[in-house]
Amino acid sequence: MKFIPISEPNIGERELQNVLSCLKSSWISSLGKYISEFENNFSSYCGTKYGVSVSNGTLALYLALSCLSIGYSDEVIIPNLTFVATANAVTYLGAKPIPVDCEKDTWNIDTSKIEKAITKKTKAIIPVHLYGHPCDMDKIIKVAKNYNLKIIEDAAEAHGSEYKGKKVGSLGDIGCFSFYGNKTITTGEGGICVTNNKLLADKMRLLKDHGMSTKKRYWHSIIGYNFRITNIQAAIGCAQLEKIDRFIEIKRQNAMLYNSILKNCKKIITPVEKKWAKNTYWLYSILVKNYNINNLISLLKSKNIDSRRFFYPINFLPPYKQKGDFKVSNMISRQGISLPSSVNLTDAEIKYICKTLIEIVSS
Ligand SMILES: Cc1ncc(COP(=O)(O)O)c(C=O)c1O
Repeated sequence: MKFIPISEPNIGERELQNVLSCLKSSWISSLGKYISEFENNFSSYCGTKYGVSVSNGTLALYLALSCLSIGYSDEVIIPNLTFVATANAVTYLGAKPIPVDCEKDTWNIDTSKIEKAITKKTKAIIPVHLYGHPCDMDKIIKVAKNYNLKIIEDAAEAHGSEYKGKKVGSLGDIGCFSFYGNKTITTGEGGICVTNNKLLADKMRLLKDHGMSTKKRYWHSIIGYNFRITNIQAAIGCAQLEKIDRFIEIKRQNAMLYNSILKNCKKIITPVEKKWAKNTYWLYSILVKNYNINNLISLLKSKNIDSRRFFYPINFLPPYKQKGDFKVSNMISRQGISLPSSVNLTDAEIKYICKTLIEIVSS
């Protein structure tokens, strides 16, 4: 069997055509027709009114926090199990990320533990829809309302995932996405903030482009940034967006095939899909009981299968090291492994991965 990568982008003719048309038109920087087309199409796909594209998903989080005036000495609640960018974006602004433990089944923030983490300094919650499974948003919205907190959804891993029939990214004040090369759709590097709030969208647009007035060139009423995406990246994004529903359908079918085989192994816990959720299985991820995950990754690699351990919990990382009630997220991080999840995977490859994995963990 040839090497099976954890995730590879699916780039086709349409992407090539769009990029070529950018190059030929010479609109290769951050002006050009594909940028507004991508922003409009992606935000409507999410069921939101406005989309503000940025250079990556980390900056999408930064821009959202900055736009909501979160800064020095504020606190922002995040899940303990997430990619470090969620915590870092908060830290860049001089605010403090407050990690909260996760749920055993969805691996997302434990909504029953949020209230305990709230202090007078808390300004926002960042729910992360990890690996494509949505968070239990009604509970998060209720706490946020009670304590007057903003909600910034980190949907970097959950394009198209749904909570009670609504797309993630549309449920809080601002939704943030990443279009890194391994994401469900990609622009190479890239990100977007989506929102239904025009004031927030206008402020984000201002902040991401040097704070420059859209009516008066070189007039900067505030200190802004350059977080712009290029027309070339947006051109790839437009082509990818045309295929997003098909990508998600394939990812879901692949997950069903994985589940149907792996559920027979007592050592493996397959991912859940709550009744109220549509999981898009960005990375098909499982827990493996009583097996050293790093050894498992090496053994799979020796059989040409790429995989990834779960993120180290935020409370383990040197900049954020702390003790606390993190038992569940620590356990999930120890046992979690993501398996190959590209849309290009064949059924034969999935069967080979499952057979190899079961042989290893059962030996
Ligand atoms: C949960 C989460 N948040 C944020 C990011 C940051 O996105 P990017 O790599 O585009 O900066 C990622 C991406 O990899 C992620 O998985």
